[in-house]
Amino acid sequence: MAEVGQKIIVMDNGSDITKVGFAGDNRPSAIIPGVVGHPVRKILFEEFEVPALCIAFPAHLALFASGPTSGLVVDSGSSVTHAVAVCGGRVESPAILRMNMGGQDLNERLGSLVLSRHGRSLVGTASERSALCAMKERLCFVSQDLSSDKMAGAALEQSHEMPDGTYINIGIERFMCPEALFQPGVLASSSPSLQQSIVTCIEKSNTQMQGKLYNNIILSGGNTLFPGLAERLKLEVARIAPPQYPVKVLAPAERKYAAWLGGSVFACLPMFPKACVTRSRYDECGSRIMHHSNM
Ligand SMILES: Nc1ncnc2c1ncn2[C@@H]1O[C@H](COP(=O)(O)OP(=O)(O)OP(=O)(O)O)[C@@H](O)[C@H]1O
Ligand SMILES: [Mg+2]
Repeated sequence: MAEVGQKIIVMDNGSDITKVGFAGDNRPSAIIPGVVGHPVRKILFEEFEVPALCIAFPAHLALFASGPTSGLVVDSGSSVTHAVAVCGGRVESPAILRMNMGGQDLNERLGSLVLSRHGRSLVGTASERSALCAMKERLCFVSQDLSSDKMAGAALEQSHEMPDGTYINIGIERFMCPEALFQPGVLASSSPSLQQSIVTCIEKSNTQMQGKLYNNIILSGGNTLFPGLAERLKLEVARIAPPQYPVKVLAPAERKYAAWLGGSVFACLPMFPKACVTRSRYDECGSRIMHHSNM
């Protein structure tokens, strides 16, 4: 986040897309390709000469967008998924869990399901890859009952148009693709499942807060948009959580932009200037100082 004149600019720098807009707005005003891998703080201070910058953890910001000051945020984007426990507005630092799994892995999963069913590879060109991603976003959903959905396979068939005008049909692939979030083994991944990451994260948090965290699991990021994900996650977490804790999973409508929106809210709070590092401090101390940019 950077202040330009009187305007505060909020950026959610994702590996897929970067969301940019003004603090206080409800929506980012520009969506641009991700700029991960570039030294963003250096560029902002040294090339754009922003007067101050605050860097925050996206999952932490997502909680600001949803209201409560305590909760277990699951931020799942294009390349990575984080489970983060926030208690009284602060990140519980041992309780951050990273899964190396995101929407890109699910694109690959759908690509290999289509390849084994139709013998057709959809990852050769950029337009095929983008059609594959669009097919995932349009047709995939999370199953609530695998065996009955598998039996209903034929009734689930839908087709998606490819860039060359041909159509690809998918049925059980529609739910077998995002099933990887609950069973990473299907991707030959050693990553823990989404439900296991959440439970492990809560177990590492303050014991007094655990009940509250189970009752406030908040979804954020584009990869949480699959229909049925929140309901299935509740079932799976409840299956392995201590029985005394009721489980609630919240899927805010604006979760695709929750990290950006949380930044927009946070940047309007009176405490925001204190969380920023000024350019003069940066000039004095270099990029090490950014570690002191702290919510
Ligand atoms: N309706 C949808 N259903 C399922 N997935 C979706 C949907 N819309 C977007 N996605 C997926 O969400 C992912 C992008 O999410 P997001 O914008 O949160 O990622 P990011 O912030 O760029 O990445 P990261 O946080 O991993 O660096 C893509 O994989 C995209 O295909
Ligand atoms: Mg993101």
